[in-house]
Amino acid sequence: MSFAQTIHVEDLERDPFPIYARLRTEQPIVEVSAANCWFATRWRDIELIARSPDFTAVSDDAPVNDAFGRPNILTTEGAEHAELRGGIEPHYRPKRVADYIETLVRPIAEAQLAAFHHSGSTDLLTQYFEPISALSLARSFGFDDVDASTLRRWFHGLSQGAINFEKDPARAAICAQTVAEIDAIALPLLERLAKSPNQSPLSHMLHSSLPHGTTRSPEQILPSVRITLLGGMQEPGHGAANLLVGLLQAPDQFASLRGDLDRLLPRAIDEGLRWIAPIGTMMRTAIRDTEVSGITVPKGTPISCIFASANRDETRWDNPDVFNIHRAPKAHMSFGQGAHFCAGKWFAKAQIEIALRVLFAAHPQIAFADGPPEFRGWEFRAPLHLNVTL
Ligand code: HEM
Repeated sequence: MSFAQTIHVEDLERDPFPIYARLRTEQPIVEVSAANCWFATRWRDIELIARSPDFTAVSDDAPVNDAFGRPNILTTEGAEHAELRGGIEPHYRPKRVADYIETLVRPIAEAQLAAFHHSGSTDLLTQYFEPISALSLARSFGFDDVDASTLRRWFHGLSQGAINFEKDPARAAICAQTVAEIDAIALPLLERLAKSPNQSPLSHMLHSSLPHGTTRSPEQILPSVRITLLGGMQEPGHGAANLLVGLLQAPDQFASLRGDLDRLLPRAIDEGLRWIAPIGTMMRTAIRDTEVSGITVPKGTPISCIFASANRDETRWDNPDVFNIHRAPKAHMSFGQGAHFCAGKWFAKAQIEIALRVLFAAHPQIAFADGPPEFRGWEFRAPLHLNVTL
């Protein structure tokens, strides 16, 4: 039996990195039946697949279709994809983000901090990073009145659908219930925005590049709203938490970062994202039989391009498993590749920076309360908790 056939989803959930390392060496393009798809684990193969006309993002097998509906931004291409992306992306371009990010995120971060500031300890994942991430995205996107605990429940529920490669009915049910809860709030909101547009991405998704007086239907945009809520609310918080774990495990690096925050923080953010990619994979499908690194990927095959593995490819980085904020800057894949490259990269990085600056200014001596946390996940990866003393 080949190594790939021995892989279980539970092993991937617990710690996928040794599995990816072995696949990169022995079976870089291979079927992994436990995940119902093929895996591509090397940097150069993923780069090739993302740019190749022989692979498409359009897929009947992607879990996001069942979970969130179609058409959606992730599994469309060409004009249909551009139309869906056009409603979201302008609000998150670097110059726009620079105009509003401080006034949006700093008050949210300071309010979250105030709740545990004098307590001496907290779980920074659930009490700080996740609420900041969820509230910042929701407020920027047009959901003005939904509280942090509801938003956190939303992205945790949505993620169960997005990662449901194994078609587990329990996961599907959690996601369906979350979608119903979101729709109950989104539909009346969209009805109001159809009549009275505003500057939010939610409003733009309804109106952008359409003749005056016409709008898209909720059915056309809601699947992409759900996808953006999931990634946009979940990932910046998880990226920040992953980075802080790296820093707390490497006190020398943490000390040098605090001594030179302006220069080292942007680098540290990228190193944290490289080290543990919050979104580990993207799905592509072969349009025809296509050879990649000498292996034929048969027509119709769904192939999971594993960014989390490409980010640790030893042909690109020395000691790739080691977290090291002093590495020479080099592009990683954590925001994706090709036409579906993350629309929220600048927003996410700026938000993580503010959240960490607020935290470090108030609590420069953070340390693990009970040792390094347990991580879970391969499609999405983050610590389960981040208990610290302040
Ligand atoms: C650290 C935080 C984030 C990470 C690591 C991340 C990562 C990614 C990745 C890997 C993709 C490509 C997925 C694929 O091709 O299947 C993606 C797409 C996307 N991201 Fe992010 N993301 C982050 C934050 C955000 C935020 C804050 C937003 C809010 C606007 C956002 C919105 C999107 C959208 C709309 C797409 C779909 C783009 C398309 O299909 O054209 N992301 N993201």
